[in-house]
Amino acid sequence: MSGQIEVKGAKNSALKILPATLLTEETVSISNLPDIEDVHRSIELLSELGAEINKTGSSSYDIKAKNIKKFELSPEFAKKFRASIMFVAPLLARMGEVRFPHPGGCVIGAGGRPIDLFIEGFAALGAEINIDGRFYHLKAKRLKGAEYFFTTISVTGTEAMIMAACLAEGTTILKNCAMEPEIPALAEYLNAGGAKIIGAGSPTIIIDGVDKLNGGKFTIIPDRIETGTFAIMAAVTRAPLTITKCCPTHIESLLAIFKKIGIAYEAGPDWLKMVPAKKFKSCNIKTHEYPGFPTDLQSSFTVLMTQADGTSMIHETIYDRRLLYADMLTQMGANIIMCAPPRAGVNGPTRLFGKKLTSPDLRAGIAMIIAALIAKGETEIDNIYQIDRGYENIGERLNKLGADIKRMD
Ligand code: EPU
Repeated sequence: MSGQIEVKGAKNSALKILPATLLTEETVSISNLPDIEDVHRSIELLSELGAEINKTGSSSYDIKAKNIKKFELSPEFAKKFRASIMFVAPLLARMGEVRFPHPGGCVIGAGGRPIDLFIEGFAALGAEINIDGRFYHLKAKRLKGAEYFFTTISVTGTEAMIMAACLAEGTTILKNCAMEPEIPALAEYLNAGGAKIIGAGSPTIIIDGVDKLNGGKFTIIPDRIETGTFAIMAAVTRAPLTITKCCPTHIESLLAIFKKIGIAYEAGPDWLKMVPAKKFKSCNIKTHEYPGFPTDLQSSFTVLMTQADGTSMIHETIYDRRLLYADMLTQMGANIIMCAPPRAGVNGPTRLFGKKLTSPDLRAGIAMIIAALIAKGETEIDNIYQIDRGYENIGERLNKLGADIKRMD
């Protein structure tokens, strides 16, 4: 493989900016939205709630949430789409009420993924919380600013509290916040509309509530996980890839490891050029909140380590079921030993062979594609909806670089 690949807008930023459009009655123009299934679900959900949606370009939309007619998230959406949880805070702040079932989504956390921090946080801001059959029912005429400490660092939890607090009465101080780049991006979008948020991107965020927010324009930041995934893909396939429209400073934890293990690259402000390395060393990683090593790159990095010289220990600390795919890599010929707590010992380098696989989640799915690119023979991957959730037209984009990927139906 060789050539140039452009990074699309960040899934995990788009999935917060879209619901945040509910916080204003005015039109919001969003550009650089990735064309992925999770974004389609968010747009459908906005439309179901009563927002007017206009597609203004291949990756841009105008959204006007003037006449919101519902404050309920249907189980049909919530069950299959975990990011539907991001609609709860804006509906509560805008409508004074919201009803929703426990969100579903991919299978990476034990016993479903919890939302206790959201509920606890909204209660701290004065919401009345009731559980009504299978639904949570939250009410607050107007939320009230408060101090809240996250006992577990949570990306979506931090973002939900920012959205709830920006229309609350008074000041909210959030402590032990997540610092992922999608969080300052959300704050930047809201501040451009008149919100008063300071400290986003640091552990303490202070929000002075305002009475209303205005519309405006926003460009989604580049997807740092796509950037890292393509960089790893280049290293695994020994491809001289240039990755453009990206932000290399958002993947410093990965680039620092590349330096350590002998994978060379050149980086500019919005591009990354990977230099093929014949051999590279193994390396232990432990996933961590930003700016540590992202859990969303863990599976692709494991594929890289199947080609490294030596043994690496991959320690997943955020989601306890996010190493399930390792069994698929073993079926392909990788030498991986699973340990408890969730860790995978990878002995490299090993030859991989094409197999019939099923993708359990989005990030495992892309790791299988990377593994398949270097495997001898053909690999068939089932459940590709999971991959389409987060990577735009991945087959077509990689085929342009020299891959041979066909969508079966
Ligand atoms: N947690 C709780 N209670 C809660 C919420 C989370 O205990 O109410 C726990 C989780 O179980 C987990 C930890 O907190 O152990 C951290 O999870 P976090 O809440 O940060 O994850 P998230 O906000 O649900 C976002 C991304 C994930 C990404 C993580 C970590 C979105 C929509 N999702 O999830 O993205 O892995 O942060 O960076 O932003 C993906 O894109 O494939 C993906 C899963």
